[in-house]
Amino acid sequence: HKRKEMAGRKLLVTAGGTIEPLDPVRFIGNRSTGRMGYAIAEEAACRGAEVVLISGPTSLPDPCGVRVVRLETAREMRDAVLQSFSSVDAVIKAAAVADYRPVEVSPHKIKKSDDDLVLHLVRNPDILYELGQKKKHQILVGFAAETCRVEEYARSKLERKNLDFIVANDVSEPDAGFAVETNRIRIFDRNGHATAYPLKSKRELAGIILDHVASIWGN
Ligand code: PMT
Repeated sequence: HKRKEMAGRKLLVTAGGTIEPLDPVRFIGNRSTGRMGYAIAEEAACRGAEVVLISGPTSLPDPCGVRVVRLETAREMRDAVLQSFSSVDAVIKAAAVADYRPVEVSPHKIKKSDDDLVLHLVRNPDILYELGQKKKHQILVGFAAETCRVEEYARSKLERKNLDFIVANDVSEPDAGFAVETNRIRIFDRNGHATAYPLKSKRELAGIILDHVASIWGN
């Protein structure tokens, strides 16, 4: 019954971690492999949605039937997301976006010396917060990757970023979060409802997340 239920809907999904270059050979990154976001994009395409997947560097192949935009930095991701935002019906932000970047990128490989090396980092734009400000008809879904006080932090991101719901994962658990095939999520919505799911594959959880989006649309 799920087949093609999202026909005629346009979804924007972000996945993977952004990377922030320090010099031509080094960067600051995080442990996201893109699996969670790619699973969502693939499942949405199977349900008939038109899907744009905006992805940081990953080793995953393009999912079938999905338009994939690959980029590196948070600022590149922001530009790509904002370009598509007005034409989509929902955004699901599974990407792990770097909150900070080096203040300057050295044009040449940084040479080592006997001194300590101090990096000066500046804040990156918060893409999801910006979408929350601009939001009109779009359903906005965020993720919260936490290692403690999961519910408190997730609910505060839900409010501050003006989301329809947030998918929280405790990334300190070995079988959940970054770089594994499984995840354990809790969904918090604007009405104060919380639903906890047991350990499942990221593909199954993708289906659960898309069911939540579809229920807001009323189908
Ligand atoms: O890719 P995998 O290896 O499968 O791992 C999956 C995952 C752990 C990366 C995924 O399940 C997950 O939790 N993604 C969100 C990671 C994250 O950066 O969470 P956050 O709590 O720091 O950010 C909250 C939300 O704001 C996220 O939806 C994020 O995309 C967004 N954000 C954050 C910072 C920023 N500058 N701009 C943003 O849009």
